[in-house]
Amino acid sequence: MDFDLIVKNATLPDGRTGMDIACAGGLIVAVEQGIVAEAKEVIDAAGQLVSPPFVDPHFHMDATLSLGNPRMNVSGTLLEGIALWSELKPIQTVEQIIERALRYCDLAVSMGIGAIRSHVDICDDELKGVEALLDVRAKVAPYLDLQLVAFPQDGIFRDPTAKENLTRALDMGVDVVGGIPHFERTMQSGAASVTYLCELAAKRGLRVDMHCDESDDPLSRHVETLAYETTRLGLQGRVAGSHLTSMHSMDNYYVSKLIPLMAEAELRVIPNPLINIMLQGRHDSYPKRRGQTRVPELRAAGITVGFGSDCVMDPWYSLGKADMLDVAHMGLHVGQLSSRADMAWCYQAVTGNSAQIMGLNGYGLEKGCKANMVLLQASDTIEAIRLRPNRLAVIRGGRVISRTPPSIANLYLEGRPAQVNPVDFSPKSPSI
Ligand code: FE2
Repeated sequence: MDFDLIVKNATLPDGRTGMDIACAGGLIVAVEQGIVAEAKEVIDAAGQLVSPPFVDPHFHMDATLSLGNPRMNVSGTLLEGIALWSELKPIQTVEQIIERALRYCDLAVSMGIGAIRSHVDICDDELKGVEALLDVRAKVAPYLDLQLVAFPQDGIFRDPTAKENLTRALDMGVDVVGGIPHFERTMQSGAASVTYLCELAAKRGLRVDMHCDESDDPLSRHVETLAYETTRLGLQGRVAGSHLTSMHSMDNYYVSKLIPLMAEAELRVIPNPLINIMLQGRHDSYPKRRGQTRVPELRAAGITVGFGSDCVMDPWYSLGKADMLDVAHMGLHVGQLSSRADMAWCYQAVTGNSAQIMGLNGYGLEKGCKANMVLLQASDTIEAIRLRPNRLAVIRGGRVISRTPPSIANLYLEGRPAQVNPVDFSPKSPSI
């Protein structure tokens, strides 16, 4: 049999080494050692890591790359970011949003991202973001899975036209129901918004992904309501809570009740480590809280946790480069996930776990999966997080869609090696 592509001598995320991956008809047809066959293209992985694509389960593509428009966030605060977004929203055009989003998708693909769940602000009566991102979703479909969440940024009850706009957005084809209960005017109103939005999703057969308790308030209780409504409406496994930063500050006794409720509801959890560590604890003097939700405890309860990036170069966050390994790196540090198993898990949080949260089909490196994968300049998943290395080849449907040369420095020191390749510093490297 002739193949479209064979990737030779790969290390896989589960630690298997010397593996060959054969692709045909857009699918992986064999993953084994020593495949001998003809192929239109052969890539020598040279023992480096080949992984399924990165998956970003939480992003805001309608705002990305707008940094500096209409002006810079000089203070770097959330409040100035919110003010800036409300200045930009009325003046930006559909075409501008499309152009920025497509540029971001180019960058994301080059960094090995294969799927993104993006929230889109529906608190704009013209629904410019929705129109733009639906167009982008269709345009990028051959090379990137884009899933859209109807996000009532100003509150589904607090904003007078949000309910109507959200329904319109879903009718237009947005995939997932969003929410922001902690932004409603009262705790009761926030709880009612969770009920309203979960019922809407259940009626339409859609998934839910809410910004939930993105605060330092130890008494915020919307995660509890989200878990309750998920179970009541039979939405288990289809509902995600994004951020959940309040859980960092909650009373330990209360959390000992809450986490089992979340596990019962099969609630998915999406911390956004870069943004959470940047924005939380701002009202603290010292010590300052970290604000990342309780990742180790959630994992221990069997809850699926995936890390998201949230923002790249937008009114709220000036940094970011579509690197899910930056996200994993920050999540690892903030969560003190330093055991070998925990560090390897952080890689899972930006790949398989996030794919599960998005409900992606055919994701993985097994026979029968879609032939989507990334070759990294790293020897294994922990090394990938340490180095955040170049993505040497990005493969979609068995075809190379992006290449980046390896990063190798030439060294001009007498008596020392001529080159420094970061991979050679791996603990597994024969040169050490
Ligand atoms: Fe967000």
